[in-house]
Amino acid sequence: MNSAKNAPNQAKLTPNLGLKHRNSFGLDSTAELAYEITSADQLPALMKELGDKKLAWRTLGGGSNVILPESLPGATLLINILGQDLVKSDDANSWLEVGAGVNWHELVAWTLEHNIPGFENLALIPGTVGAAPIQNIGAYGVEIGEYIDSIEAFDSAAHAFVTLPQEACQFSYRDSYFKQNPNRLIVTKVVFKIPKAWQARLQYADLAKQFSESNLNPSAKQIFDAVCAIRSKKLPDPKVIGNAGSFFQNPIVNTEQCEQLSKQFPNLVSYPDDNGKRKLAAGWLIDQCGFKGKRVGPVGVYENQALVLVNHGSGTSTDILNLAKSIQEAVLGKFGVELEIEPNIF
Ligand code: EPU
Repeated sequence: MNSAKNAPNQAKLTPNLGLKHRNSFGLDSTAELAYEITSADQLPALMKELGDKKLAWRTLGGGSNVILPESLPGATLLINILGQDLVKSDDANSWLEVGAGVNWHELVAWTLEHNIPGFENLALIPGTVGAAPIQNIGAYGVEIGEYIDSIEAFDSAAHAFVTLPQEACQFSYRDSYFKQNPNRLIVTKVVFKIPKAWQARLQYADLAKQFSESNLNPSAKQIFDAVCAIRSKKLPDPKVIGNAGSFFQNPIVNTEQCEQLSKQFPNLVSYPDDNGKRKLAAGWLIDQCGFKGKRVGPVGVYENQALVLVNHGSGTSTDILNLAKSIQEAVLGKFGVELEIEPNIF
């Protein structure tokens, strides 16, 4: 069926590709037609072909935020567009252009090696640069949306490349225009704008705690190392135990509901949200329902962080979603709060 076999500038096709090692949950999943995209200019012809054949399609980056079914019919686009460049610099900012397939953590390390601090709080987040804006990755008080200048993508509806400036990306907590409009835009390149006036961002207690009074002015590299240490302690390494990081979003509630809950549960953990509401620590809610470390067949809840579901080896998406449902029901029953699943369910 493939008219596009390995010719230059055509995406490489592998039929029936096993994806167990391409998703951090380690789920057994087979892509009927896997296309490796190494260059943006492969997309117009491929997307036309898929459209003409009316084939379903989806993209896969690092596979670190997805729940895959046993089989993925139609086309799966493995985005492997590489390359990063410092393209512009003035007194105030540096601009970086980065291919969607670049590994996120490797980019963070690269920026520090090149003396461009700013991303250090986001160290060790798994996944690719192209996937980072979809869920607006965030950790330790920093979200990537604030550093994005623009995003280049192939618009499958318009069948053309588009450039979205930051304002059009509609970034908010774990959300973006891309997430709200699934399967429309294929991110090919991200342009970051990083201010040169760097300041350590230590408002997150867990991180601030790492620096003693003798070092109140840590360097970006020291913060990077501290973030790596905290994450490694709390979050399971997907190479050792399958997981997709936080499985639920931290729910946002209004202040009245939060006060009400605090009266009932004095140890409730909550933080102010940007919009004047309160963000509850979902990990705490789940922990209080007794799920931490619990195992249900081949899947379970991580012993050091109740917000992380894990696959002990042979779990399927159904096992994970069943466990997620029992957690959602327990949290709703005890606290009256709904938990929203964070990874993409394919
Ligand atoms: N907590 C518990 N029990 C638990 C887990 C957490 O009581 O089992 C309580 C603790 O009091 C803790 C609080 O919940 O102080 C918050 O926990 P943590 O600091 O681990 O952060 P989080 O809110 O659970 C969020 C992000 C993480 C990010 C960290 C640090 C979401 C959904 N998750 O987790 O992001 O690394 O903050 O900024 O917002 C990810 O998205 O995959 C992810 C790992």
